Amino acid sequence: MKRKRATFPPYGNRDVETVVLAAGLGTRMKSSVPKVLHKICEKPILWWVLRSVFSAGSLRVVVVCRHAADDVVSAVKSWRPKECASGRLVFAAQKKQLGSGDALKSALGKLSGKCPVLVIPGDAPLLRPSTLKRLVEFFRRSAGAALVLSADIEEPFGYGRIMRSPSGEFLGIIEEKDARLEEKNITEINAGVYCFAPEHLKSALSSVRPVNAKKEYYLTDVIGILRKRGLGVIAKKTPQADEVVGINTRADLWAAERNLRAGINGTHMESGVTFLNPENTFVGPDVRIGRDTTIGSGVSLVGSTAIGSACVIGHGSYIKDSSVGAASRIRASYIYESRISSDVLIGPFAHIRPGTDIKSGSRVGNFTEIKNSFVGEGTKLSHLAYVGDTYLEGDINVGAGAITCNYDGVKKRRTRIGRGSFIGSNVNLVAPVKIGRRSLVGAGSTITRDVPDGTLAVERGSQIHKPRKKRR
Ligand code: UD1
Ligand code: CA
Repeated sequence: MKRKRATFPPYGNRDVETVVLAAGLGTRMKSSVPKVLHKICEKPILWWVLRSVFSAGSLRVVVVCRHAADDVVSAVKSWRPKECASGRLVFAAQKKQLGSGDALKSALGKLSGKCPVLVIPGDAPLLRPSTLKRLVEFFRRSAGAALVLSADIEEPFGYGRIMRSPSGEFLGIIEEKDARLEEKNITEINAGVYCFAPEHLKSALSSVRPVNAKKEYYLTDVIGILRKRGLGVIAKKTPQADEVVGINTRADLWAAERNLRAGINGTHMESGVTFLNPENTFVGPDVRIGRDTTIGSGVSLVGSTAIGSACVIGHGSYIKDSSVGAASRIRASYIYESRISSDVLIGPFAHIRPGTDIKSGSRVGNFTEIKNSFVGEGTKLSHLAYVGDTYLEGDINVGAGAITCNYDGVKKRRTRIGRGSFIGSNVNLVAPVKIGRRSLVGAGSTITRDVPDGTLAVERGSQIHKPRKKRR
């Protein structure tokens, strides 16, 4: 017997489909990079939007972009490969940028038409998942045809304004460029976030005409159209006005960055991290920091960095995609793609490059550079050394000005130094070369042959003394 296919009751279940409008030209950014790919706290604007959309939950997400080979499409695919592969995240191309109404129209073919549609601008990175969830819930209960998220803001310039009757009934939205003086004084703005009942959306969008200052098909006109048809439209004001900002200019970008940074740093403070100057400290969204760690002024913690507890990350340090163990101190140093264990002291002014692993109790001092090397426990490179492609077994002292000559002009070659050795000042270790355990290399030596365990190696011209010529 053939089963009848289940049909979605209009608002009977919890499903929602989301459309993210991201095909706008973003002319006010004055940039050749698409607006939604400009970054806030390391991540593109649209990355933040999709993060909120997915954590709010959505049956399907349609991103409207300019064309299928858009930079935006490839960026989104790289952030969310799983959702793209499963078809939960799809793209709709808007052939010509004729306005936000036309943008939504180009997404309709990708929607089931059976559950409410949440529309979000791709340029509103601060919207929280909880706000979106609440909005959809409210819309479901209202059983209206459309709902608009609004907010009262002090500087409404540039936003569409919410028009209400004297009794407060929602009448429609008027854009800045089309508004009369008294309308421009309205401080309740359209956040650009909407819920629509699917059954009325298509025909309302088809009725939108580009009769306005920008000669665009405004999505905002749909509200007035639905209302004229006697359908329920609501403007729901959010008290969290800081969330609704749309990014249109570089100044907006900075305002949003400041907001997100304050949120991230505030969360770390709540969990027990001290910031000496949080306003000029950058901590990326994926960074983890342990309790009782102190972060100095002008520090940047970037990418997938993890800092342990009771660390001191001093003034001016930049740490990217690295881990730092408990109770380590980093002073004014640059560290990339490396692992620093607990109780390590680095800097001031050290440069730790990718592939470096520094074990507990080690010290790396000023003007030392380490690249792709293992530095075993209790090793000291206190000043002016360069160590590349090297294995330092542990408990080693590397003197000032000592360097590994790891590059012969063609290939990178490895150096190995055994436990308990002492490398004097200004030594050159010409790789590939091995220094045994408990060996000593005299200052100024250029070592080209392996040094056995427990050996003193010196390579130096003998010092000559001659009587000094008399000066006239
Ligand atoms: C829009 C709203 C305005 C609201 C503001 C909130 C309209 C007409 N106005 O204004 O009421 O206060 O957002 O931030 O919608 N887009 C396309 N294709 C296009 C044009 C735009 O995909 O052809 C996308 C943009 O990428 C953007 C969104 O639609 O994400 C809104 O467009 P934008 O030009 O930023 O509109 P605003 O002038 O900011
Ligand atoms: Ca905008």
